[in-house]
Amino acid sequence: MKILATYNIKGGVGKTATAVNLGWLASRHGYRTLIWDLDPQGAASFYFRIKPKIEGGAKGLLSGKRELDDVVKATDYTGLDLIPADFSYRNLDLSLADSKRPVRQLMKLLRPIASEYDLLILDAPPSISLVSENIFHAADALLVPTIPTTLSLRTYDQLRKYFRKQGISGVSILPFFSMADRRKSMHREIMEQTWAEDPAVLKADIPYSADVERMGITRAPVGAYAPGSVPARAYEALWTETLARLAMN
Ligand SMILES: Nc1ncnc2c1ncn2[C@@H]1O[C@H](COP(=O)(O)OP(=O)(O)O)[C@@H](O)[C@H]1O
Ligand SMILES: [Mg+2]
Repeated sequence: MKILATYNIKGGVGKTATAVNLGWLASRHGYRTLIWDLDPQGAASFYFRIKPKIEGGAKGLLSGKRELDDVVKATDYTGLDLIPADFSYRNLDLSLADSKRPVRQLMKLLRPIASEYDLLILDAPPSISLVSENIFHAADALLVPTIPTTLSLRTYDQLRKYFRKQGISGVSILPFFSMADRRKSMHREIMEQTWAEDPAVLKADIPYSADVERMGITRAPVGAYAPGSVPARAYEALWTETLARLAMN
């Protein structure tokens, strides 16, 4: 099982939209896929029309009273399951701090389900915390949606520095441009310059699009209600490139 996380310290940059759309695409391409909605706000659960609640909450999982298998829900899509958010995730940091080896708890929880899925996508909350440290240790790659502005690029730099300082290796950082508006010269210039300078940045970008915003009303992945649309094709390109970087076959 490969583990991909959508991560950015900032909120509102497209993490959840990416997790939902790539998860759906992965399942369409035949990969047994699981999305874990780790944000107590439960946006990914909302998009899949699944109640953001798990019996026993985070404590039940961490104490071993409940296995991940018991809290997995099927979505409306074949081959795509979800672990819903739970309001108790807002205290997940504290619960993790109480445990032995606090940054490896997520890895431990995932072990029993690893053979049941080809791909796990973790939809992370916007923070640097024990929760995100667990994600950094568990994931093979972090997809980092980045809005093409100078401030957003600084956040990506800070993340790279943080990884170096903490000695976190073994996880690829895959930044890509999100909510890109090509009508804005600043967006175009920042993207062109960054692509020229940094080969780590993915070539696929997700344009700013009302079709993506509509996910909040349709409560479905873009490709399911707007197949062939510009953002649906953009997510497809992002999926193909991510797949190549994850070295999945
Ligand atoms: N490419 C996009 N174009 C337009 N709106 C977007 C796009 N991606 C996300 N959004 C919208 O922006 C808001 C935040 O996106 P979301 O994926 O929830 O961000 P995050 O998970 O990083 O907080 C949501 O209302 C979502 O519908
Ligand atoms: Mg989110």
